[in-house]
Amino acid sequence: NSRVLVDKFGRKVDYVRISVTDRCDFRCVYCMAEEMTFLPRQQILTLEELYRIGKAFVDLGVRKIRLTGGEPLIRRDVLTLVKHLGSLNDLQHLVLTTNGSQLPVMAKPLHEYGVRRINVSLDSLDPEKFRQLTRTGDLKRVLAGIDAASEQGFDSIKINTVILKGRNDDEILPLVEYARERHLDITFIEEMPLGAISEHGRKECFMPSAEVRKIIEQRYPLQTRIENSGGPARYYGFADSRSKVGFISPHSHNFCGDCNRVRVTAEGRLLLCLGNEHSVDLRSVVRSTDDDEILKQAIIKAMDLKPERHYFDLEDEPQIVRFMNMTGG
Ligand code: GTP
Ligand code: 5AD
Ligand code: SF4
Repeated sequence: NSRVLVDKFGRKVDYVRISVTDRCDFRCVYCMAEEMTFLPRQQILTLEELYRIGKAFVDLGVRKIRLTGGEPLIRRDVLTLVKHLGSLNDLQHLVLTTNGSQLPVMAKPLHEYGVRRINVSLDSLDPEKFRQLTRTGDLKRVLAGIDAASEQGFDSIKINTVILKGRNDDEILPLVEYARERHLDITFIEEMPLGAISEHGRKECFMPSAEVRKIIEQRYPLQTRIENSGGPARYYGFADSRSKVGFISPHSHNFCGDCNRVRVTAEGRLLLCLGNEHSVDLRSVVRSTDDDEILKQAIIKAMDLKPERHYFDLEDEPQIVRFMNMTGG
């Protein structure tokens, strides 16, 4: 099977991020509003439907699937999906982004079923600050989760930290130290304006990656950039540690030129770009036919809708009404 997905700008899409649920046990201030309503059950794809879509993408040349949420590990029986996707021969990388709360029990089966790399969100090492940023999260559990994952021997565990000026910019060095001590990678992320949140001003709290980098370099000089295989992060190494530090800078650095990814929401909407509303309803396709060829044709056709780049603007109300928990980043 030699089919590939290519968009109008010649970008090859070989990576799909699948959100398996919009729900989450945390309410991170940059991701969700304090009061959220979640999608009703029948609007959410079943695990079988998610698998069918994942497999169709793999048949179309996709080699990497990232499961996200909301929090993917709170979806009931998600391990069944992991197991089935993990046994697709042509899928080279099955990876996961999680808030870590379920890792104390899930790290082991995830590794067993073929997940080799995980990203864990961690915005603070201070229990009180962690609680304020996640509203409902328990730092101890997340740290225990990261420890449990470390024991499994994943090829990579990456910490994701969204930096908000005045809220956790004093956590930058402690988090870098935490990562270095454990040989983990860490990425610092500029907040993106998705969904109307109210607790902090996105403009006021915006902290450019260059500033984060300066703080790190006062203590730990970063070596030159490490070439990566596409994706938004720019990675640097240390002279004296295996850990890498990444920066995801959607405002200060545009990385859309080599975008290789699309997203599927838990309700089966195929989103062609995180910073854009163009989407194709795959749920109605999977619910109207058993013919996977029709599904694949719908996916191929959707590639034409992929926009050239994202435009994020911190000046106005967010143009994207969808909250981050619909795509998990
Ligand atoms: P890889 O996709 O494997 O490179 O990992 P990642 O670091 O991109 O994935 P992760 O789920 O850990 O997301 C980290 C941050 O990157 C989140 O804030 C995502 O929203 C952001 N991100 C990932 N892909 C894109 C993208 O295509 N565009 C933008 N603007 N942000 C992205
Ligand atoms: N801007 C940037 N990153 C975000 N994340 C969630 N919401 C936002 C946002 N508004 C991050 C989470 C998680 C990753 C998948 O996306 O911290 O690590
Ligand atoms: Fe949950 Fe992740 Fe959103 Fe935090 S960023 S509320 S952990 S989905």
